Amino acid sequence: MTASPNEHTIKIDQTDPAETGTTTLSVRTLKLSDFRNYASARLDLDARPVVLVGDNGSGKTNLLEAVSLLGPGHGLRGRPYAELARKDGQGGFAIAANVRTRHGELDIGTGFAQRVGEDGTGRTVRIAGKDSSAGALGDYVKQVFLIPAMDGLFTGGGSDRRRFLDRLVVAIAPGLRTSLSRYERAMRQRNRLFQMREYGKSLFEGLEEQMAEAGIAIAAARSTRWSGSPRSSTSGAKPKAKPLSPTRCWRCMGRSRPTLRAVATEAEDAFRILLEEGRERDRAASRTLEGPHRSDLLVVHGPKNAPAAICSSGEQKALLLGLVLAKAELIKTMEGIAPLVLLDEVAAHLDGVRREALFAEILRLKVQAWMTGTDKELFSPLAQSAQILDVNRGIISP
Ligand SMILES: Nc1ncnc2c1ncn2[C@@H]1O[C@H](COP(=O)(O)OP(=O)(O)OP(=O)(O)O)[C@@H](O)[C@H]1O
Ligand SMILES: [Mg+2]
Repeated sequence: MTASPNEHTIKIDQTDPAETGTTTLSVRTLKLSDFRNYASARLDLDARPVVLVGDNGSGKTNLLEAVSLLGPGHGLRGRPYAELARKDGQGGFAIAANVRTRHGELDIGTGFAQRVGEDGTGRTVRIAGKDSSAGALGDYVKQVFLIPAMDGLFTGGGSDRRRFLDRLVVAIAPGLRTSLSRYERAMRQRNRLFQMREYGKSLFEGLEEQMAEAGIAIAAARSTRWSGSPRSSTSGAKPKAKPLSPTRCWRCMGRSRPTLRAVATEAEDAFRILLEEGRERDRAASRTLEGPHRSDLLVVHGPKNAPAAICSSGEQKALLLGLVLAKAELIKTMEGIAPLVLLDEVAAHLDGVRREALFAEILRLKVQAWMTGTDKELFSPLAQSAQILDVNRGIISP
């Protein structure tokens, strides 16, 4: 194992999963009140993929956003809840859904009501009629998503790619969240010490110990949970997914790469020493220059053997889709539940071959994928196998 906080190789392949014992997570009923441009709306669905077609500004992404709020977090746009309340409404919104989960049908309700004197940061959540928390939704609703805002992932800053990778990993290794916050906290305190005129050496040692422990746990989660999955292989043939998911190997590496090839405890020691030796350098920079917070995710287009950053925008879109669908497949394999897959405006960016490959992959995975687009024609191969709905200024019709 390569146990460096900066360097990981992640290998996945896309051969067919064992289909036994998996459930397709699917939204069966969705009701919206005062959500974005919807005064009220209701959808009754089966487990098949859902295609939303309509003009710009008709409310397609808003629907995907509502579905994303059936899971934990702030939804796929990550916007403040107050913004989601309909402009001409009462200042709040409500979403109610019936969802088919691994544990049977489940009623989920979530909403937001900004009251005088409240900061409006929280939303209410009810699961099967009981008050609950947004975090608890993660036990029932697994989802992956891709939105146009992620298009610049390969050419933008490293922190976005790191967050993207960590979101992928957290879905199958939830402990990563705790390691990340422990690491961040210790690093913030260490950085603060650099501002102080006087400080005890032992203060540094304690914080670096914590950073080493959490940092190696982060590195291990980012790499071994993926390469250790039952279907990892570099030699696996991937005939079906090939046009869509040419990603064979993602390398995640930092700017400087200490070679720490060791078991976890040795790696922790080595990282701790690295931090200790880097104290003066870090003090000059007023921040920590080495560690998993500087890691980057390098995605390589397999057949072309080219980094994603120099691929065309359609190729980059296909690579992103490959990663997101690989995550969906991993969730399915490891947890026995095919997650919701929310894909905003993906079809229009793909050529015919890649579009066919996307649809084939969605059907093979048996996921309830939600897709949006302005051109119904592009989805014609799905005419029999998906639920195609027209969205027109906040009104949804089959
Ligand atoms: N809080 C809100 N209250 C009322 N309307 C809103 C609110 N937030 C967004 N809207 C409006 O909802 C409309 C639909 O937005 P949405 O992003 O869903 O469009 P879309 O169908 O995805 O369009 P496109 O094809 O351009 O992506 C927009 O006109 C937007 O201005
Ligand atoms: Mg949209």
